[in-house]
Amino acid sequence: MLKRTKTCGELNSQHIGQKVVLNGWVNKRRNLGGLIFIDLRDRYGMTQVVFNPENTPVYNLAKGLRAEDVVSVTGMVSARPDDALNKDMKTGQIEISAAQIEILNKAKTTPFEIRDEIDLNEELRLTYRYLDLRRPGLQRNIILRSKVYKTVRKYFHKHDFLEIETPMLMKSTPEGARDFLVPSRNHPGKFYALPQSPQTYKQLLMISGFDKYFQIVKCFRDEDLRKDRQPEFTQIDVEMSFVDEEDVMETADGLILSLFREVVDYEIPQPVPRMTFQQAFERYGTDKPDLRFGMEIKTLNTVFNESDFQVFHTVLQKPQGRIGAVVVRNGGALSRKKIDRLIARSKELGAKGLAYFKFQQGSLTAGIAKFITEKEAQRLKEELEFRENDLVLLVADDQNITYPVLGQLRLEIAEQLQLIDRNRYEFLWITDFPLLEFNEDENRYVARHHPFTSPKAQDIDKLQNHPEQALARAYDLVLNGNEIAGGSIRIHTKELQEKMFSALKISSEEAENKFGFLMRALEYGAPPHGGIAFGLDRLVMFMVGADSIRDVIAFPKTASAYSLMDEAPSVVSSKQLAELKIRLI
Ligand code: AMO
Ligand code: AMP
Repeated sequence: MLKRTKTCGELNSQHIGQKVVLNGWVNKRRNLGGLIFIDLRDRYGMTQVVFNPENTPVYNLAKGLRAEDVVSVTGMVSARPDDALNKDMKTGQIEISAAQIEILNKAKTTPFEIRDEIDLNEELRLTYRYLDLRRPGLQRNIILRSKVYKTVRKYFHKHDFLEIETPMLMKSTPEGARDFLVPSRNHPGKFYALPQSPQTYKQLLMISGFDKYFQIVKCFRDEDLRKDRQPEFTQIDVEMSFVDEEDVMETADGLILSLFREVVDYEIPQPVPRMTFQQAFERYGTDKPDLRFGMEIKTLNTVFNESDFQVFHTVLQKPQGRIGAVVVRNGGALSRKKIDRLIARSKELGAKGLAYFKFQQGSLTAGIAKFITEKEAQRLKEELEFRENDLVLLVADDQNITYPVLGQLRLEIAEQLQLIDRNRYEFLWITDFPLLEFNEDENRYVARHHPFTSPKAQDIDKLQNHPEQALARAYDLVLNGNEIAGGSIRIHTKELQEKMFSALKISSEEAENKFGFLMRALEYGAPPHGGIAFGLDRLVMFMVGADSIRDVIAFPKTASAYSLMDEAPSVVSSKQLAELKIRLI
């Protein structure tokens, strides 16, 4: 094989007159005015090669070239004629006049063309993922992802963190998602679990004194998938000793600042804004607000405290009752039919209804306008600052309905009316999370984050009698309405860990069974510590502007956790099962 002397992405007018060898894939062949042109493609780019009929044997070989054949071309770099210059192509000033060609391997007709501009069904793409990955768009994503790894490592090494690997085969301690299990041959009837995260190990590393740890690590969770979730995904996992929330958040800020600066040349405004969980809930109906557009929720209880409108009156009698509203700019133009669709949607989301009015020709009209007094209208105008032709949507209900429903409508309306600026990155820290949440199915409190997260010092006493009021020393980083990182300051004494387990109704027997190793370690001088983990796939997804994390993972699974290409999971032989002492039912 004639080895390449250059890649397909680097030649320009400075190389004119040089003899080069290029290796790559035939992207396209065209016959034009007696000449044959091919675009030769590799990871670095594309270069045009011309075959002249005067060089008969080589020309004849070129005649037989098909898309995706692998070739080695030798030739002279020549200037393109003026009318053939291509400004959109990095190598558009030159072409190669082929002197020689070696066909390294022929390709069958591919099931789809290798280019970005075609609309492909994802099943076909995933079945032939190795071909899908040849397309320039996906190549760019995977290459950018590699730069992310490099920048992450550079950042943490610069700040004296140690990269330490933790086991992939661990003890099953489900708390959160479902574990993926691995049967043990040496211990029939026993199972390892694949880590949902290295959480316990990184805490143990702090107890061992490693002080600052990071790892780029695969995590496995058997949960229902969505476009931003995969059964195996990658975390940038971090843990630090002798720190508080500020230290961890500062380290995380520094990381995303470096990443966006060095990888996508984007300067994240500092400081990253912060909001408490409660504020986020009341203003956006969610713990991951998308700040790329306005339409904040306003609470109007005080405006309507004398209202005759029955719906509002009833809700205001209840301590948890809230009347919330969002303003849709120029929403006055929405047809009755569109508004009815919003009302139906709010009911799907769990509200009893959706009230509305418009502000047109200086006064409130339509919907519930007739129930609103002059005085209320004045207050509404002050609170909501609506303008001519705006639409106001209101939900009155328990706060656990009012805010989430309005928050979801806010997102869907912004999507429909294209209010979201796709070129913006809006980061936000959410702090002061509740420590626990009540799980109806299990009829007990569960940790919102995980059971090792420390309550705030002033809330430790609430664990016993008012667990729902305890706040956590936890923080999440949100980007454009998605949770991209989460972490906390951990519990580092056995006493507090026991209190926590007791609040979670985890018996001491169960705690010993599942977490005995950690409980014991806490007794041998555990330093105060805390950390965070980033969802690397999600982060890369935003950096490249992809819609799905599948577009930034080389070999992702489908929504049903299936790999179409290699057909995993698959049936295994009865011999394999027998070795594991497993019988299928
Ligand atoms: P957490 O469970 O919040 O925290 O996970 C951290 C981040 O990982 C990403 N993530 C996912 N990405 C893709 N697919 C999934 N199925 C998936 N699940 C989570 C999210 C999330 O913010 N041990 C703790 C971290 C800590 O406390 O230090 C943990 O795993 O972006
Ligand atoms: P009704 O009296 O049920 O016909 O409702 C009058 C208007 O108020 C309709 O537009 C309903 O969609 C709306 N509505 C009903 N319940 C609620 C609620 N809980 N919050 C907001 N609007 C409501």
